[in-house]
Amino acid sequence: MYEAYWGLKEKPFENTPDPRFLYHSSQHEEGLYRLLYAVKEQKGAAIMTGVFGCGKTLLGRTMLRELSKDIYRVGYIMNPQLSYLELLMAVATSLGVSGLPSKKTEVLTNVVLDEISKVLQNNMKDGKKTVVIIDEAHVIADKEVWEGLRLLLNFQLEDRFLLTLLLLGQPELKESIDSNKQFSQRVAIRCHLGHMNLEDTHNYVLHRLKIAGREEQLFTEGALKAIYEKSGGIPRRINHICDLSLLTGFGRKLTHIDEKVVSEVTKDLEGE
Ligand SMILES: Nc1ncnc2c1ncn2[C@@H]1O[C@H](COP(=O)(O)OP(=O)(O)O)[C@@H](O)[C@H]1O
Ligand SMILES: [Mg+2]
Repeated sequence: MYEAYWGLKEKPFENTPDPRFLYHSSQHEEGLYRLLYAVKEQKGAAIMTGVFGCGKTLLGRTMLRELSKDIYRVGYIMNPQLSYLELLMAVATSLGVSGLPSKKTEVLTNVVLDEISKVLQNNMKDGKKTVVIIDEAHVIADKEVWEGLRLLLNFQLEDRFLLTLLLLGQPELKESIDSNKQFSQRVAIRCHLGHMNLEDTHNYVLHRLKIAGREEQLFTEGALKAIYEKSGGIPRRINHICDLSLLTGFGRKLTHIDEKVVSEVTKDLEGE
């Protein structure tokens, strides 16, 4: 709606995890490196925690894009609110197993584990590493489900795992994992995304605008500072504030967004 008015090719602040918009803040960069290290070195499991909206799913999607198909076979599970058997089936399906009965009552755990084992062995023979990314992993509460995930990590050679699990989730994920000692021992890499600082928030906004086609200044320095203060440096909130500011500025035919516009739209948000 406002794109042409602001000289943009597309909307810059959509709350969708589109890797084209990734801004390499120091913490996102470090998070990405750690996840990449875990898969390259075939560690058992890596976890990435962070509050809602800090960029976990975006980094998960970026991993999917970065991991070359020549070397990796990657499964992605978006919603792991599943029972033990359902989760094993989701893992199997995400890795390309087909032909499992659709009725849960007809499926045996051992059969699913066997199928997963076959896929892992075949991938290894083909010279491929296998990775399963589980997003929203903080919703996994059941001990039995953690036990199922631990079983998956039993597929290993002497010096490496045949499967690397990357678990992304809100901060509660850490407690869940720590209370499942057996699983916890297999987590080789941990990282946490916090909020961005003022400088990163500033550069983040400019970066997303640039990708969307606008290089000239649009937000004043005062506006950028206000965006940082009101968003607490959380990308999802920054996007929301910037999007509403652009809409408001368009409605009023402004040439720039200043801190007054930012304050106004954040008042509206607070009133939600
Ligand atoms: N480093 C980043 N660069 C660009 N956009 C980001 C970054 N981190 C988060 N975002 C954006 O913020 C929004 C929320 O991120 P998301 O990955 O969905 O958060 P989470 O999964 O942690 O709740 C998405 O639109 C995402 O693209
Ligand atoms: Mg997410």
